[in-house]
Amino acid sequence: MNIIKLIDKLYEENLLNKNEILYILDNIKSYEVDYLCEKAVATRKKFYDNKVYMRGLIEFTNYCKNDCYYCGIRCSNKNISRYRLSLEQIMECADLGYKLGYRTFVLQGGEDNYFTDDKIVEIIKSIKYKYDDCAITLSIGEKSYDSYKKFFHAGADRYLLRHETATEEHYKKLHPKNLRLSNRINCLRDLKEIGYQVGAGLMVDSPYQTNENIAEDLIFLKDLNPEMVGIGPFIPHHDTIFKDEPTGSLEKSIIVLALTRLLLPSVLLPATTALGTINPKGREAGLNAGCNVVMPNLSPTDVRSKYALYDNKICMGDEAAECRNCIEKRINMAGFVLDTSIGDNINWHSPL
Ligand code: SAM
Ligand code: FES
Repeated sequence: MNIIKLIDKLYEENLLNKNEILYILDNIKSYEVDYLCEKAVATRKKFYDNKVYMRGLIEFTNYCKNDCYYCGIRCSNKNISRYRLSLEQIMECADLGYKLGYRTFVLQGGEDNYFTDDKIVEIIKSIKYKYDDCAITLSIGEKSYDSYKKFFHAGADRYLLRHETATEEHYKKLHPKNLRLSNRINCLRDLKEIGYQVGAGLMVDSPYQTNENIAEDLIFLKDLNPEMVGIGPFIPHHDTIFKDEPTGSLEKSIIVLALTRLLLPSVLLPATTALGTINPKGREAGLNAGCNVVMPNLSPTDVRSKYALYDNKICMGDEAAECRNCIEKRINMAGFVLDTSIGDNINWHSPL
């Protein structure tokens, strides 16, 4: 197989089989990575021109009942101080975000039973009542079909739930027994059926991950056809069992992002904070590999350091306004423009 020919085929057809993807992952050379990224950027331009959408991230609780082995806020980590934002604090984040030009708010947190369905509904309705021109994205983990439906009818528009890995054996190495890949995938299918714009995704270079696992992830994503995909490098956290595992590579992350852009040409693809954490120019590299979304932090500065999923996370002490201005400069320097509209997936047609 010839890599350049495979990339051309992928660019033309937005399709490759698992062996072809695996061949690229196993054999790609750095000059071919440049070519892959060129094609990924050309593809994003067809749909989104030079625009990069901005989402304001509100990390509203670091309590979590789960114990994912890689995650710094897992329940068995007794060394972190836990926090929850009140409705008032969440609204203050949204108020500030709105003034700074954000039209999407991402409510992210651990799986925290304190936030009952009614409380989540109240948060969604409060934001939507005040800012009906904004989208709400939830990222609060695995819930029942009925809960997802309630949130949707309260006004939530999008839901991020990374599948983490599409390979059963690999999933078991990253999670305790009570967490099942089948449940996570059922959740994603439920969210789609209800009518959310859905985001799946994975960490690159997570412990035990092979190129074959990544190829399976990409085939899974192609089949699921989500509106958004979240991909960032794995970064160890000092209070987890994976503390001595190596940090994910920038180059591998870039390759997986570019392949994702080419397989799902109109997808919303963030240049993640994790990418910016492993390399000062990581998010710019992501934009130059087909990413078209950034998610600066809107959480109050005094809780930022408590939402540490991994070590050395960037922007810990920066005010929301600083993050917003910093990200705009970075986008411009990379040759793109910030777009402050609501930023739905271009192929999205609301079911309502
Ligand atoms: N509880 C929600 C969920 O399960 O989807 C949202 C919060 S969870 C912390 C968000 C994402 O952070 C996870 O899907 C995972 O991919 C990522 N993450 C967790 N630990 C990480 C690490 N050590 N390095 C990189 N990403 C990590
Ligand atoms: Fe629950 Fe990470 S283990 S958010």
